[in-house]
Amino acid sequence: MALRPDQLILGIESSCDETAAALLDASGGVRASVVRSQIDLHAAFGGVVPEIAGRSHVEHMVPVLEECFARAGAARGDVGAVAVTCQPGLIGSLLVGLSTAKALALALDVPLVPVDHVAAHVYSCFHGVAEPQFKSACLVASGGHSTLFAVDSPARATRMGDTIDDAAGEAFDKVAAIVGLGYPGGPIVDRMATGGDPRRFRFPRTLLDRDSLDFSFSGIKTAVLYHCRGQDGRTRRELDAQEVKDICASFQDCVVDVLCTKLLRLADRIGARSLAVGGGVAANRRLRERVAQVAAERGLALHLAPRELTTDNAVMVAGLGRLLLADGVRAGLDLDANPRSAAKAARR
Ligand code: KG4
Ligand code: ZN
Repeated sequence: MALRPDQLILGIESSCDETAAALLDASGGVRASVVRSQIDLHAAFGGVVPEIAGRSHVEHMVPVLEECFARAGAARGDVGAVAVTCQPGLIGSLLVGLSTAKALALALDVPLVPVDHVAAHVYSCFHGVAEPQFKSACLVASGGHSTLFAVDSPARATRMGDTIDDAAGEAFDKVAAIVGLGYPGGPIVDRMATGGDPRRFRFPRTLLDRDSLDFSFSGIKTAVLYHCRGQDGRTRRELDAQEVKDICASFQDCVVDVLCTKLLRLADRIGARSLAVGGGVAANRRLRERVAQVAAERGLALHLAPRELTTDNAVMVAGLGRLLLADGVRAGLDLDANPRSAAKAARR
């Protein structure tokens, strides 16, 4: 059962450090989207503190929902379904969004639709695209994930590769910390890299063996650490402003190289007609540029998530929820939160 034309779907996202709600209409148009980031709370700790994240979601969830309804000019009764991120993520954070979604679904007597956060990042690449090209080779690169998918439709993706250690965004965040920049590091490294020389330092491109679609970023991060602090990782030396920029540019190019190489490897393997990139790292300007360039060279269509949908948001949750609902997917009120993705790597 899909939505009635006059109904809205509410999406709720709280898997990490963004409290978000969105209302989409029955044809997928965004009526309102609100994202409350907790970055300021976690910056002092150099990373997300799960306990603080959970408490902050409790504080912000209702105001975020109220703002979302107000911006959409919608009433509670306009909601025909509630989609919610139930996995993967920080368990205490997920539970806040999930409990809220259950309460609303129960009170409004509407279906509850379970959404996987990483699948929602995949969906974000195709949101609002008139003629998406499938199969698509899709990369989701964020603070928690670096995953490759073979995508058959915006709601159907098969996991083909994953990181075996750090996620790409995590590597950006850790490198920023090593060179003394703030948190989260991705956007800062992106900015600093603009004035840097990407060829000054050659950090290792960890591509694993030729067949692998998995990633490894910890070696690249360690190479930056040794470069900045010596082989024992402890001997701090002063970095001048230009060297910081050159490190950022060289590191960024290295990560972008690895991501693009594997994405193309996947595209070749599945005979893809398009490349797609989503997740927080998809905001990276160099990555967007390079993926656009390789797509053009190979004659592949390009589906980059719109910038505002790269980092965590609820539009992607409501959008994927809308498609799942039309496919008959819904959950009972006993739906549980899961810190990991349930769908284990179904490798082809
Ligand atoms: O998707 P997201 O908001 O949260 C997760 O699901 O993890 O991604 C956040 C990550 C952080 O690691 C952040 O540093 C990274 O995305 N990020 C970037 C950029 N903007 C955000 N990384 C590189 N370049 C950027 N411009
Ligand atoms: Zn995310």
